[in-house]
Amino acid sequence: MKFDKQFTFGTATSSYQIEGAAAEGGRTPSIWDMFCDIPGRVHKQHNGDVACDHYHRFEEDIQHIKRLGVDTYRFSIAWPRIFPEKGKFNREGMDFYKKLASRLTEEGIKPAVTLYHWDLPMWAHEEGGWVNRESVDWFLEYARACFTELDGIVDSWITHNEPWCAGFLGYHQGVHAPGHTNMDEAVKAVHHMLLSHGKAVELLKKEFGSNTEIGITLNLSPVYANTDSANDRLAANNADGYSNRWFLDPVFKGEYPKDMMNLFSKYVHSYDFIKEGDMEAISVECDFFGINYYSRGIVEFSAASDFLHRGAYSDYEKTGMGWDIAPNEFKDLIRRLRAEYTQLPIIITENGAAYDDVVENGRVHDKERTDYVEKHLQAVSDLNGEGMNISGYYLWSLMDNFEWSFGYDKRFGILYVDFDTQERIWKDSAYRYAEIIRDHKKSHNLQAEVAQ
Ligand code: FCB
Repeated sequence: MKFDKQFTFGTATSSYQIEGAAAEGGRTPSIWDMFCDIPGRVHKQHNGDVACDHYHRFEEDIQHIKRLGVDTYRFSIAWPRIFPEKGKFNREGMDFYKKLASRLTEEGIKPAVTLYHWDLPMWAHEEGGWVNRESVDWFLEYARACFTELDGIVDSWITHNEPWCAGFLGYHQGVHAPGHTNMDEAVKAVHHMLLSHGKAVELLKKEFGSNTEIGITLNLSPVYANTDSANDRLAANNADGYSNRWFLDPVFKGEYPKDMMNLFSKYVHSYDFIKEGDMEAISVECDFFGINYYSRGIVEFSAASDFLHRGAYSDYEKTGMGWDIAPNEFKDLIRRLRAEYTQLPIIITENGAAYDDVVENGRVHDKERTDYVEKHLQAVSDLNGEGMNISGYYLWSLMDNFEWSFGYDKRFGILYVDFDTQERIWKDSAYRYAEIIRDHKKSHNLQAEVAQ
């Protein structure tokens, strides 16, 4: 594999998944704290109260990041640390991120900051959360505080992480916080998230006159029909509409896909929550496009399913999540984005895999994860050879953490975390990633100071 000199390597985490210190520093609960408390929602009722205790151990974690040799580290800000109550700014919460970002910068690591990685403050949820259009204003107040305090230290901004998960898993499928199962709510929630994205970009660029790069991250999964039958092709079209086009079309074309609007109208009786000017705001020009890629989808027709599709049998090799390992389909996805949607630089803001790791004599031989990462990095390298302009890659995740409804049962880290002692142990994949980065730097005569 080969990468341009400017290509950036990174690793990623998010606030609720690693920080812990849930009731410290003035933080109030988010919808995830609430969701974790409901029996049956999260594996073994795990929660993020302690997680990786990163809030207290960030200095140590920065040293691991440095040792990896990555150029950049992606983390998210916990909104309820910044605004623990409606309209009430919390200096202590902001200072934590200021310190974190400054320390990273001092160590030569560029901070890439996500504003919303799903920890909506409970006070906002109690007023309707993302379903309430006022959420756009609440988010802008929060974004404004972050830009005021951190723009200049932060190297790039990501407004939202995966509105599909926050919106459809959270408000339609009910498997993520807040756990609702209402498609009408889900479509409104997504609209307000996207609108808040567009308006935050405008705020940074126009009002702050900032040149810091800003974009959104979508999780995309190319969908294939199980057979060539008209029914299965319809199923694939609908699954693609639900997972990908419902987000890509507004962001890049300023419109929701008509076929999906019709399909959703079974539950969404009016689209009049889309106000004049909204679609222009949502499709605002960004500096890059973030993609989280994990797997492909394969579907078949199902008359009994809401939107006429369900997952089909796949004989692909799978990760510990049961997700198909599909680096070739990743290539299809990127080529399609280039053909149909955007020429913006693409950043892979997440890619990685969970496996059931075991520690043996202080080492974790995670060959499968290492293979997974190598295959996807090779795909990135191949795609760039075709001129696809992928400018960076973030491995998910720096360390094992709270994997949402799977709790601590699924390990995505390249650092193993012993959750009893909080010890971090480098897995083989971490050594290999550091080696790939070192080789890259050597090949371009860039300084490399990474682990052997
Ligand atoms: C993505 C999320 C991230 C993590 C990975 C495995 O959907 O953005 O927080 O859970 O999946």
